[in-house]
Amino acid sequence: MDDFPSLYLFSFDELNVPGAVSLFSGARDPLAALHARGARLALVGCRPRGELDTLVRDFGLADLFDLVLGAEDAPQPKPDPTPVRDALARFDADPDAAAVVGVAPDDMEMGRRAGCRTIGVASDYGVRQNLFAAGADVIVGDIAALPFVRPALAAQLRGTIPPPRYIHTIGVADEARRMAARFGADESAAWLAGLLHDCAKGIPTAEQAEVCDRLGVAIDDETRRCPSVIHGFLGAHLARTRWGVTDEAILNAIRLHTVGGAGMTTLERIVFLADATEPRRDFSGVDAIRAAAETDLDEALRLYVAGQFRHLTSRRVPIHSGLVRLWNDLV
Ligand SMILES: [Fe+2]
Ligand SMILES: [Fe+2]
Repeated sequence: MDDFPSLYLFSFDELNVPGAVSLFSGARDPLAALHARGARLALVGCRPRGELDTLVRDFGLADLFDLVLGAEDAPQPKPDPTPVRDALARFDADPDAAAVVGVAPDDMEMGRRAGCRTIGVASDYGVRQNLFAAGADVIVGDIAALPFVRPALAAQLRGTIPPPRYIHTIGVADEARRMAARFGADESAAWLAGLLHDCAKGIPTAEQAEVCDRLGVAIDDETRRCPSVIHGFLGAHLARTRWGVTDEAILNAIRLHTVGGAGMTTLERIVFLADATEPRRDFSGVDAIRAAAETDLDEALRLYVAGQFRHLTSRRVPIHSGLVRLWNDLV
């Protein structure tokens, strides 16, 4: 291991030839969308600034980046936050209003130390865990998600739920956004519905019916007999009253994610399914459901709901009629 740094430098010099660095697939569109919306973009890298400028130009991104900072702009390598602070100063921007996007734990650490929100980009679950441990507020599997994520809201939510539930939550948001892109639904709505779908889970299941009664959230007797589904109804209420969501399509997707129902919209189906297929989920049959979800939303739902029936009947618990209505819609 003592030889590792020199081996790294040797390999870097050998491999660092023109064309060795490639652009994230599909990176231009999300950056252009952010730029068009008025976001100011800075590239902070560990290479000399001249190399980064060349890369930005060769990738056709020069019109999108307002600022490029390289190795000579930081007294120490990442995660030293100096370049992020400098970028904020040059943009006259508040750290609160900025997000650092990166692929490595050091990027998250750098952003956190500068007081910014942080967005990790990783498709691999192990890398996701490392990014989360380094303080990522949000993790996306694809850079295409960037224009749709709301890191400040996510960071606020993060403070209200335990870490494992939060990792699940941002996984569902990311998965729902990906499916929305695939099946023609609103990506922004899908991400937000995914983010807030379990926002009532912090309330113990045994207390949720009582909280619904107190807050005036209508739940019928059948729903009371299925306690595990109540957080969908309560979550829709909290999404409106606590998290400021007014879009009924999003609220309905949150409400129905536990029970399903007849005539579900594409958005509602997506959030229902993403809850089962987000990267952290690991149950028998999930890979087949994920594979089906690549091309056929309803086939993936058929596989998932059939498995739910097997699971619920084996546990000898009541099955909410919403799930039966969803099944009947699918077959
Ligand atoms: Fe849930
Ligand atoms: Fe969930």
